Formats: sequence, C-alpha cells, structure tokens
Amino acid sequence: MNRIHKLLVFLLTFLLTANGVFYTAFADHDDHEEKSRHKKKERKHSEHNDNRNPTIVNNSTYTENCGACHFAYQPGLLPSGSWAKILADLADHFGEAIELDPEAQKIIAEYLKANAADYSSTRLSAKIMKSIGNKTPQRITEIPIFQQKHREISQDVIKRESIGSLSNCSACHTTAEKGIYDDDNVEIPK
Ligand code: HEC
Ligand code: HEC
Repeated sequence: MNRIHKLLVFLLTFLLTANGVFYTAFADHDDHEEKSRHKKKERKHSEHNDNRNPTIVNNSTYTENCGACHFAYQPGLLPSGSWAKILADLADHFGEAIELDPEAQKIIAEYLKANAADYSSTRLSAKIMKSIGNKTPQRITEIPIFQQKHREISQDVIKRESIGSLSNCSACHTTAEKGIYDDDNVEIPK
C-alpha cells in the first residue's frame, strides 16, 4: 500500500514536471512565432514602400497620347512584347484608329520598353511575368492572375455606368495613378 502510494506520488510529480516542461516548450514556441510574425510584418511594410508596386507613369508624351481615352496604364503591367504588338497595331487599336507622329511614337516605344514588366523589378511585374509565361497578350485584363484577382466581380457591377469595363482600373482602384493596386485601396463605385 505504502509502496503504491509512493509510486503514485512519484508518477504525479513526474507528470506535473513533464507537463511543466511541455508548457515551457510551447510558450517558447509561441514567443518564437510571435517574433517571426513581427518580422514578416516589418518586411511586408518595407516592400510596400519600395518596389511592391509598378513604377508611377512619369512620361508626359505617354500620358498625353495613351491616357487620352483611358487610364494611362503603367508600363510594368505588360511585358515589352505586348507593348510592341500594341504599338504595331495602332491603326486598329481595339476598334479605334490612333495616329501618332513618329517622334512621339519613338518616345513612347522606348519608355514602354524600358519599364515593361520584363524589365521591371517590382513585385507586381514579377507576378505578371510568372502568370503569362512567354505569351504577349494585348490586354492586361487577359492575364490569368488579373482574371483570378477580379473573378468575384459580377458583370452587373462591371457594366455600371461609373465603371464600364475592367480596363477602367482607376474607377475602382483609388490609387491606380500612383501604381498602387492593394485591395485596401479599392472602392467599387455605385
Ligand atoms: C482613341 C482612343 C484611344 C487612345 C488614344 C488609346 N487607346 Fe488604348 N484602348 C482604347 C480602347 C477603346 C480600348 C478597349 C477598352 C475596353 O475594352 O474597355 C483600349 C485598350 C487598351 C489596352 C488594353 C486594356 C485592357 O483591357 O487590359 C491597352 C494596354 C491600351 N489600350 C494601351 C494604349 C496605348 C499604349 C496607347 C497609346 C499609344 C493607347 N492605348 C491609346 C482606346 C484608345
Ligand atoms: C470593378 C472594379 C475594378 C476594376 C475596374 C479593376 N479592379 Fe483591380 N481589383 C478590384 C478588387 C475588388 C480587387 C480585390 C480583389 C481581392 O479581394 O483580392 C482588385 C485587385 C487587384 C489587384 C491585386 C491586388 C492585391 O493586393 O492582391 C491588382 C494588381 C489589380 N486589381 C489591378 C487592376 C488593374 C491594373 C486594373 C485595370 C486594368 C484593375 N485592377 C481594374 C476591383 C477592380
């Protein structure tokens, strides 16, 4: 009886201590996770400030000629092959005929190429390149990752007078002109 009692006490002590050890191990784990979460947060924050987003449009020849009918898309939203195709096809640009004087066309071609998705180091351009592989679509709205991000928006919403088409980035992305497309800065107009 006495021996059994002793054994019980021993077992109990052992369990409690073991439990204590486990507890500490878990506490340590939590602490560790907490720290790495914190680090991740910091990293995300700094990316937000340097090269997460496509470079802002800073070429007036481009804005004047290519921002006249629609939002002046950042060059980093398409690869250079796509921009070259678009410029080669200006006589039938999605049903519109566009005339550019040769000097303006040269400036625009150089600007688009130098800042295209395959020449840009921003995170969004890298994602775009990964998503299209070696294809050269003439539309941003045809890129798989674009379609994936916008798949939940219904046709009824897109057809609203205030939007019209998914090509109208700045209708919903309040910071589109700054090249910032984060979901925090989206406001779908009525
Ligand atoms: C005369 C008006 C007009 C001008 C000027 C114009 N575009 Fe467009 N563009 C359009 C129309 C119309 C569409 C099709 C929009 C739609 O489907 O909603 C379009 C679509 C586009 C798209 C595809 C957008 C998407 O759906 O992803 C790109 C890229 C584009 N234009 C680039 C350019 C470039 C580069 C220039 C300057 C050389 C330019 N545009 C000048 C009328 C114009
Ligand atoms: C009808 C409104 C609307 C239009 C027009 C639109 N977007 Fe969006 N976009 C959204 C919404 C809503 C989201 C957030 C989706 C989600 O829940 O992650 C989004 C997400 C995105 C994202 C992903 C952001 C992230 O943090 O993951 C990018 C990039 C983007 N849009 C770019 C564009 C570009 C470029 C255009 C124009 C060619 C465009 N969008 C046109 C509504 C729109």
